[in-house]
Amino acid sequence: MPAATLTVCDDPAAIAALAARRIAAAAREAVDQRFRFTLILAGGSTPRALYTRLATVDRDSLPWDATTMLFGDERCVRPEHADSNYRMVHESLLSSLPPRSARVYRIRGELGASAAASEYDVITRKIRNNDPEERFDVVLLGMGADGHTASLFPGRDFSADVKSFAAPAIAPPASPVRDRVTLTLRAIADSRRVLFLVAGQDKREMLARVLAAAQSGGDPSLPASMIRSSGTIEWMVDRGAAPTP
Ligand code: 6PG
Repeated sequence: MPAATLTVCDDPAAIAALAARRIAAAAREAVDQRFRFTLILAGGSTPRALYTRLATVDRDSLPWDATTMLFGDERCVRPEHADSNYRMVHESLLSSLPPRSARVYRIRGELGASAAASEYDVITRKIRNNDPEERFDVVLLGMGADGHTASLFPGRDFSADVKSFAAPAIAPPASPVRDRVTLTLRAIADSRRVLFLVAGQDKREMLARVLAAAQSGGDPSLPASMIRSSGTIEWMVDRGAAPTP
């Protein structure tokens, strides 16, 4: 399994531009070889600039009619709620695409964490199994200043996830929405390419800890360090988050 790579970009806009190029390249390869492209979207705020690029300047770089989009995690709120990851993706990307051009599978967080996770476990498993090598082509992830990724938070009992692709999760008390649904380490590991998008000086110290932990096998208290891929992991970070040389 190749080691993770780190690419330092000048600023969040440069991260978005680089990620868009990587996604376009992965999509071309996927469609050439398997006639379909699966992209798992990250929530939070950092990816918004990427989604806006994919909806505008880079819109023609993706084969939308052969693209399936899933979500790495969701808050258990209605899709129109201000804290919904789906709402953020709809506003920045989906609302700009021709109707029914890409297949989008929303995590129905409004059902509650357990029911929504069970439903999404079936959906993600079915889509992964549609691929002869049973992989998701690209998984986008962010990282919180506490070392979480998707909705895999410090303190999680990862042993419960080994058989699941999607699972309920609980965010820390200070989070705007505590009840969540998240893809599991197992689901994310079935990927050809994981792209982490991390920006901001507030992430620098944690990023250095996570990268070190990832190189020595991963630390469950730093969930982002536990992420593995059947393919490659690339960290795209801005100068604020980049480890000091
Ligand atoms: C979420 C995301 C979460 C996010 C990180 C980083 O639902 O909040 O999935 O894992 O990627 O918290 O968020 P920012 O990009 O806003 O820093």
